[in-house]
Formats: sequence, structure tokens, C-alpha cells
Amino acid sequence: MTDRDVVPEDITEDTVTDAVVDSFAGSADPRLQALLSAVVRHLHAAVREVEPTIAEWEAAVDFLTRTGQTCDDTRQEFVLLSDVLGISALVENINHRKVAGATEATVLGPFHMTESPVRANGDSIDLVGGREPCVVTGRVLTTVGDPVPGASVDVWQADENGFYDVQRPDVQPAGNGRGLFTTDDEGRFWFSTVVPSWYPIPTDGPVGRLLGATGRHPNRPAHVHFIADADGFVPVTTHIFVAGSPYLDSDAVFAVKRSLVRDFDPVDDAAEAARSGVANPFRHAQVDLVVERAEPTAAG
Ligand code: BEZ
Ligand code: FE
Repeated sequence: MTDRDVVPEDITEDTVTDAVVDSFAGSADPRLQALLSAVVRHLHAAVREVEPTIAEWEAAVDFLTRTGQTCDDTRQEFVLLSDVLGISALVENINHRKVAGATEATVLGPFHMTESPVRANGDSIDLVGGREPCVVTGRVLTTVGDPVPGASVDVWQADENGFYDVQRPDVQPAGNGRGLFTTDDEGRFWFSTVVPSWYPIPTDGPVGRLLGATGRHPNRPAHVHFIADADGFVPVTTHIFVAGSPYLDSDAVFAVKRSLVRDFDPVDDAAEAARSGVANPFRHAQVDLVVERAEPTAAG
């Protein structure tokens, strides 16, 4: 018997996919096996479709290497890659399919990296004193419109120049644009802030170069992030988009939903401004967040 007889048959272009999928047959975890098998089948199909040259494949590996090398404690370039390829939006949409009447979910994004400071209703999350003050009033409601008292409402947003506090620690104090509020007995929350600006996602890494090479802009429309959570309910992670903002029709991360666009109305009312602790005139947005009841568990 020669060494050649030990090899049952050649692995070819036609058989390599099944060979790799079969190699996972001994997986202890069936979900891992299913995931890896699907990833291999789809990647092989893409390779068959485009037939990359060796140089193109090396460039792809180099791109992924540089993406990994760009990650650190405060920068997650792989998440950004997932965002601009629409994978984050797809995973979010699959995991939070529309529930009648509930606020639609959208991507978390990379800037929820620090805990929001606990704040009281009526506080300002603008620690800098921006040009365009804004009052946000809202409620957390059930899908049948009942108020949810004691719900937590975590808020974070970019400033009016389009930067989060963590991006410009020299200009913005930590916690600027962030607040953790609790709804009152009628499910209400309210705070003052500035109208956020649209902004570009980070473009100084491999993902930015990918956008440039494909003629895509890096911008996100103006928005405020929210997570509403309460005992017995499914937490909702979402944004409220500022009506009229540029890029509502071409968000770089595919996260806009029409149901999440809100007017930030101009208000000229000195008494109301004084009550809310902002300069007059100001803008006002009403943000109701509707949460779905959690399925009861065996534990009750
Ligand atoms: C954000 O909205 O904070 C965001 C989401 C995805 C990528 C970059 C930023
Ligand atoms: Fe954002």
C-alpha cells in the first residue's frame, strides 16, 4: 500500500465545500455546527461567483487584518464593518421583529460605551451650553397605551457639532449628551439638551477607506439614542431621528425607520422656556417609547 492509496479521492473545486461542511460533523454544539456550515457554504458560493485572483484574496485578508489591528478598548472597527455592510441592522431586525404598536428597535451603535449618569427629570444633558436648546418630553407606554412608571430611559446623543463626549474628551466633559432617567408615576420623562447634528462615522480606518473606494458617504442623520427598560417588559434599543435632517434617506449604517422620525418643533414661549430651564426660543420633541410585555417565564 502506497501513501497515495491512503487518500480516498482528490478534493476538487466541486467537492471542497461538502468536505469542509462534513468536517464539522463531530461538533459538540449543534448550533455552532449549523453556523459554521452556513458560513462556509455562503463564503464558498461568493468565491465561486467572483473567482478572485490570488492578489485580490491577499488584499481581502490584508483588509481584515488591518480591521482587527484598528480595534482597541474604545474603537471596534469590526462592529463598524458590520454596521456599514448592513449586518448589524439585519441582525437587529431579525431579533426584534415588528410587534404591533411597539416602538421599533434599531442598532445600538458603538458610542454606548460608558454608563450614562443618573439624572432627574428636568435635568439638562447639555453640560456645555449649546446654541440650539431643546426640550425632550416623553412617556414610556405599554402597547395598549398604559403608562409604565419606574421605567429606565437611557439617553445618549452627539452634540451640535456631531461628536459624542468620548470622541472629544478635551472639549466635552464625560457624560455630556448622556443621561439615565426614570419615568414618574404617569410614565413620563423629560430633559433638556441641544438638537444633535448629523455626523460621519469614523473614517480614519479601513472601513472609512472601504466607503471611499465604493463612493459611499460616511454620514448618519441627526438622532438621539434611547434604551427604555422596565420590569416585565422587553427592553427597546432605538433612536429618534430629527425630521428634516440630511441623510435620513441614506444612513451609512441602514438604521433609519420612518416610524422613528420626529419633529423637533420650534417654540417661542418665554414662560415655557423658563419653566424648562432653557433659553427662548427653543425646540421641542415629544418621544413616546412603547414597550412590549415580556413572555412570562417558568419562574413567573
Ligand atoms: C451611532 O449611532 O452611534 C453609530 C451607529 C453605527 C455606527 C457608528 C455610529
Ligand atoms: Fe449615534
